[in-house]
Amino acid sequence: MTSRPLRSLFHLLPTRFQAVARTLRRRMPLTAMERWVRNEYTPFAFDERKWVFLSVARFLHINRPMVGYYLEFGSHEANTMRMAWDCFHHLFDFDYVAFDSFQGLPKIEVIDRQDIWQQGKLRTEADAFVRICLDHGMPHDRLMTVKGFYDQSLTGELKQRLLPKKAAVVYVDCDLYHSTIPVLEFVKNFLQKGTVIVFDDWNCFLADPGKGERRAWREFCERYPDLHFEDFVSTGMQKAFVYVGAWTEADSTAVD
Ligand SMILES: C[S@@+](CC[C@H](N)C(=O)[O-])C[C@H]1O[C@@H](n2cnc3c(N)ncnc32)[C@H](O)[C@@H]1O
Repeated sequence: MTSRPLRSLFHLLPTRFQAVARTLRRRMPLTAMERWVRNEYTPFAFDERKWVFLSVARFLHINRPMVGYYLEFGSHEANTMRMAWDCFHHLFDFDYVAFDSFQGLPKIEVIDRQDIWQQGKLRTEADAFVRICLDHGMPHDRLMTVKGFYDQSLTGELKQRLLPKKAAVVYVDCDLYHSTIPVLEFVKNFLQKGTVIVFDDWNCFLADPGKGERRAWREFCERYPDLHFEDFVSTGMQKAFVYVGAWTEADSTAVD
């Protein structure tokens, strides 16, 4: 086991050094625990996510036509971006947008403290991210990256540039309460009937409703009680909702 300060330093190294170190580590013999993680635990996490993406694909296909963006907040090593492409591109003509600092996690505020989150961790530089996606077969003209920490990058001007096209799918994988707040505020204008919003880290922080993505979502729903969402699929970690429209007190049907 590496110590926590060492791990923090590791994540501040340039991505290419991290990759070399990981390659060297991979060449060393595996312990029983590492073998189990590689063969059982990691594939399980992959399958869980894949099930969510395929459930979304099926929902949107049955309810077609659905057009718009796949908006992803938290893109790191393009695991979810590649999965989104694999699960959606045969059925839909989405444009794919990755929003990330591309410098890893921001400063961790008190409420977001949990062992696995550290400032600078989960960093993949934008060029490396794009290369991974293109090598996977995504066309360059369907992929856009927006670089920066969300409290700075998610501007009104950016919103105007991306609108009027709406979101078909919003994937929130930025882990932290403080990161999710500006994300939800930004995506509000991209909702259309049927938009699926997925939270990748719904059950982080021991599923505490006062923390993480759960808290940001609850506060968002309280701030905009006219926006109506229905429960969709969930796994041990992820949770998804479908936007069904703006709800009025006077009229108990969705109006847009
Ligand atoms: C768990 S990783 C995402 C993993 C990715 N979906 C994948 O499958 O490879 C979380 C990502 O969120 C980004 N992130 C978290 N908070 C952020 C913020 N406030 N602004 C910009 N990016 C942020 C980090 O840079 C990191 O890349």
